[in-house]
Amino acid sequence: MQEQAITRRADATPHAASLIEGLRDIGYSLESAISDVIDNSITAGASCIEILADTFSHEPFIAIVDDGKGMTEEELVSAMRPGSKNPLDNRDEQDLGRFGLGLKSASFSQCRRLTVISRKSERTSAAVWDLDDVAERNEWTVQLPDEVVGIPGIDHLGSSGTLVVWQKLDRLSAGYSQNAVRRAEVINQRLSETERHLRLVFHRFMEEVKPLRILMNGRQLRPLDPFAKRHPATMADPAERLTLSHGDVEIQSFTLPHHHRMSKAEWEDIGGPEGHLKSQGFYLYRGKRLILYGTWFSLCRQSELTKLSRVRIDIPNSMDGDWSIDVKKSSAQLPPIVRDRLKKVIERIQDGSKRTYRKRGQKLVDHERLPMWNRVQASGQISYRPNVDHPAFAAFAESLPPDLRRGFFNCIALVGASLPIETLHADMAGAPEQIVPDRVDEDTLVQAVQSTLSVLLRAKKDLKEIVSLMKDVDPFRSSWEDTQRIIAATIGTKEEV
Ligand SMILES: Nc1ncnc2c1ncn2[C@@H]1O[C@H](COP(=O)(O)OP(=O)(O)O)[C@@H](O)[C@H]1O
Ligand SMILES: [Mg+2]
Repeated sequence: MQEQAITRRADATPHAASLIEGLRDIGYSLESAISDVIDNSITAGASCIEILADTFSHEPFIAIVDDGKGMTEEELVSAMRPGSKNPLDNRDEQDLGRFGLGLKSASFSQCRRLTVISRKSERTSAAVWDLDDVAERNEWTVQLPDEVVGIPGIDHLGSSGTLVVWQKLDRLSAGYSQNAVRRAEVINQRLSETERHLRLVFHRFMEEVKPLRILMNGRQLRPLDPFAKRHPATMADPAERLTLSHGDVEIQSFTLPHHHRMSKAEWEDIGGPEGHLKSQGFYLYRGKRLILYGTWFSLCRQSELTKLSRVRIDIPNSMDGDWSIDVKKSSAQLPPIVRDRLKKVIERIQDGSKRTYRKRGQKLVDHERLPMWNRVQASGQISYRPNVDHPAFAAFAESLPPDLRRGFFNCIALVGASLPIETLHADMAGAPEQIVPDRVDEDTLVQAVQSTLSVLLRAKKDLKEIVSLMKDVDPFRSSWEDTQRIIAATIGTKEEV
């Protein structure tokens, strides 16, 4: 298109009041808003960040204080300017910012009054954006108060650092402005959801040699590593590197330990409120800060088969354009080359987990392994049938007179035929780890252990082999300590005799 000489122009300065209101609605949540403010503190070199919230008072507030390098008044005024930095400028590798908007847009998404107090070289500066004031004056002017006493959180600001205070929390208290108790409940609930998000999003900063500390109302948050790298049963594939024009992408796959190998608390913590099925997938980090997680980017479905797989992707901030990182730093799109590579990663993961499942299935059908249940697959259908040849059944049946024996086998067949398949399906889809084998009482266990032992001893198996066979099958596996004790007692008696 040819450019024409322009002779006329008209003033099109945005209306301060409406544009600043528009900044509120780009889709932040409380957790993504607080994370964006924390990003600034990390970029400013903070080693401790405190979140202070008073939700019960008449005028609730949320404050975020850091001990970073702080700002002069001039820097502060520039920081308050929406669009204070051009997204096309180069940024330091450590800089977590992007558009020069975060502080303002994140804050206004939650509140109508943003106060920032910053201390640098022993000078304290303060600036306030109050949306009601902007609406009234319709001007792009920030207030510069002389007095900072009485600002919530000011006594937490040290010799250098920055305090960000949100007041007039209209969004957070939506619908409850008249009911202080209910309002406090709602805000506190949201804050406790935020806590997990922060533990996850900033875990790598919190795990460093000189760890970043994040406190919420005085309580230090623990990092939450989504790959459970410290757990001895976690499996990590080697990291691979992809060099692109604007930087390197690093990819590493992890397989979480099976829930049997973790404590319940650990398993639930790492699965989060949505559970493991929804938490599998890619975890995308930009400059070590987690920006997206729990998605396969439409490359495959989140399935039971890949439930324990999580793949870490690391990108530098120089690739924002290629990945379409948005203002909230909570969405991104895959560049085509990366997409192809990730498809391969997924194929490998799927092959691997199919193999593990097959192995587990194998165990179940292997005769040597003494299954109580047989898996029978025929003409496209799968059914489970109690294994009447199992020593525990067989030995007992032998002890019965022939006419009762038949009734006994009928009862067992009935149990098999009435397996509650629909309920199992429903539970498997929801929380499969909550389905556990029922415990049997001592008497039943003793009978099962003794009859199994005698059959295996008769088959001339040595004790070591017997123990390793029994260890893998229920009901022995789930009551292993009791089983061991009963084996010892049984063998002991035999040896005495
Ligand atoms: N806690 C802080 N400590 C020091 N400087 C800050 C802090 N918060 C914001 N700033 C300054 O304000 C600027 C604007 O912040 P922001 O609106 O979040 O945009 P961005 O982070 O994309 O640059 C930052 O680039 C930084 O220079
Ligand atoms: Mg920022």
